[in-house]
Amino acid sequence: MTAAKIDLPVHRIRAYMEPGPIVLVTSAHDGERNVMTMGWHLVMEFSPSLIGCVIAGGNHSFDLVRASGECVINIPTVSMVDAVVGIGNSSGRDVDKFAHFGLATDRAVEVAAPLLRDCHANLECRIFDDALVDRYNFFILEVVRAHVARTPKNPETLHYTGDGVFVRAGRTISRRADFRPALLGNGR
Ligand SMILES: Cc1cc2nc3c(=O)[nH]c(=O)nc-3n(C[C@H](O)[C@H](O)[C@H](O)COP(=O)(O)O)c2cc1C
Repeated sequence: MTAAKIDLPVHRIRAYMEPGPIVLVTSAHDGERNVMTMGWHLVMEFSPSLIGCVIAGGNHSFDLVRASGECVINIPTVSMVDAVVGIGNSSGRDVDKFAHFGLATDRAVEVAAPLLRDCHANLECRIFDDALVDRYNFFILEVVRAHVARTPKNPETLHYTGDGVFVRAGRTISRRADFRPALLGNGR
């Protein structure tokens, strides 16, 4: 039987549409570095590898990403949930979040922003197009280098639904045989 539906206030649709995973964005500029939590991002293109994301103008990270033109998108898993929440509820203007949250870092290859060692994946990014930054705080980034852990195969990434609640990933359903090649990543 189909469940009855309610009339949901449109400002609450995020819980249904939120993509994932929650990521930690590291940035660096002029001798300073920072990290913020981010949920509002989307994949826009395979090649070049483009990601769109919103970084609110009031965030310290906004200034560092905009000024340097670079950042790293780090993908944490459930074991980092406390850091994810803490990093997203404090500002690099007030605190050194790397020291405060005990974040181990590694040097990136293409950009100045650091990689977060304990994250499952680290995507080094450069701003590809800033046309929508002034209007929407929307950055279009190109992933120029990607470091990903070989295991686990299905990492338990965190997906935010608002109101302090996360959904954890980890189980997969494959329908690969039913997909057109073009929808599986540029046909490769
Ligand atoms: C789960 C979660 C998701 C968030 N997603 C975003 C986001 O997509 N964009 C954004 O601008 N801020 C987002 N924030 C808020 C920033 O992480 C927060 O404002 C942070 O303090 C900014 O740090 P900064 O001033 O050091 O850059 C999120 C916070 C949390 C806890």
